[in-house]
Amino acid sequence: DKGNHRHFMEKEIHEQPEVISHTLAHYVDFTTGRTKPLELPFDFAKLDRIAISACGTAYLSGLIGKYWFERYARLPVDIDIASEFRYREMPLSKKSAALFISQSGETADTLASLRYCKGEGVPIGAVVNVRGSTIARESDVTLPTLAGPEIGVASTKAFTCQLSVMAALAIHAAAARGTVTEEEERKLVKDLAEAPRLANQVLRLDRQIEKVARELAHYKHVLYLGRDTNYPLALEGALKLKEISYIHAEGYAAGELKHGPIALIDENMPVIVIAPHDRIFEKTVSNMQEVAARGGKIILITDEKGAEKSTIDTMDTIVLPQVPEIAAPILYALPIQMLAYYTAVFMGTDVDQPRNLAKSVTVE
Ligand code: F6R
Repeated sequence: DKGNHRHFMEKEIHEQPEVISHTLAHYVDFTTGRTKPLELPFDFAKLDRIAISACGTAYLSGLIGKYWFERYARLPVDIDIASEFRYREMPLSKKSAALFISQSGETADTLASLRYCKGEGVPIGAVVNVRGSTIARESDVTLPTLAGPEIGVASTKAFTCQLSVMAALAIHAAAARGTVTEEEERKLVKDLAEAPRLANQVLRLDRQIEKVARELAHYKHVLYLGRDTNYPLALEGALKLKEISYIHAEGYAAGELKHGPIALIDENMPVIVIAPHDRIFEKTVSNMQEVAARGGKIILITDEKGAEKSTIDTMDTIVLPQVPEIAAPILYALPIQMLAYYTAVFMGTDVDQPRNLAKSVTVE
């Protein structure tokens, strides 16, 4: 049932504050500000590496997880697309654990990667949305996302719930490894707990984003740029746009622009820059200057401080509230989902059932 919504995708986008809140509550205690104890088949303090693999949007949640595990828990992460990982014959040390991320829990390549790791004798955790799915059953521990059933083929609420689990796990790992103090742990949990309330605010940008989408629907090619955790979000923005609107889109790390893609820049390819005012904001601004200097049109997704600090002429600027660093990827996922959604609506595509795609990819 779509309720008041035109599509399941729209409904699922709007469910995010609630399902993110449910998911976080499973892993962190909002009153004490600590992570909840987890029964894991490994000890984060004794690991020297985590291997993550997944497909599509789930893979991108893992890529953001890598930034968090490495930054907060000082734990190196190897991350791979499952269809590559399963054939890569990666050596896994005795001090590794493997994590698999899947909404459906049935994705063939992710399952094959899990079985490879099992064969190597590595403890296995699975971040899955469908309880009782094959990936959930075959793992040593299931780390559930509590997104509820996701009907739209394009993943939205499952993605932000995957991010919620990855963030909570990274804090958990950081606490176990002593790379954060108890006070820092509480601060991270408190910051993360802000996500549902802020998500409600971000969703109120829908009318403005719809207007931006109306313009975007006139273009054939779009480039997304971001740095740090905004780089996987740039990839996610491009994936979401291409799969439901069929507009050709690519995501790049902003710093890679001058290593090739800048040759594409002209007035016919808008560049969507995801850049909250964070520690590397200025670096991204210099990439925007490079785009502007070549006649490129910019759609900037930033916060109030970023909008104030950037002096570059943009086609549009989408301004989010200031958000804590650890909650930012969850919140910046929303405008890119809405942008893809409204653009597809203007294009008149079948948003919930895009051509050639299946919700669960059980063949390789
Ligand atoms: C994109 C999308 C896909 C899935 C991918 C993995 O919007 O939904 O890229 O993320 O097919 O599916 P799961 O998570 O079920 O393993």
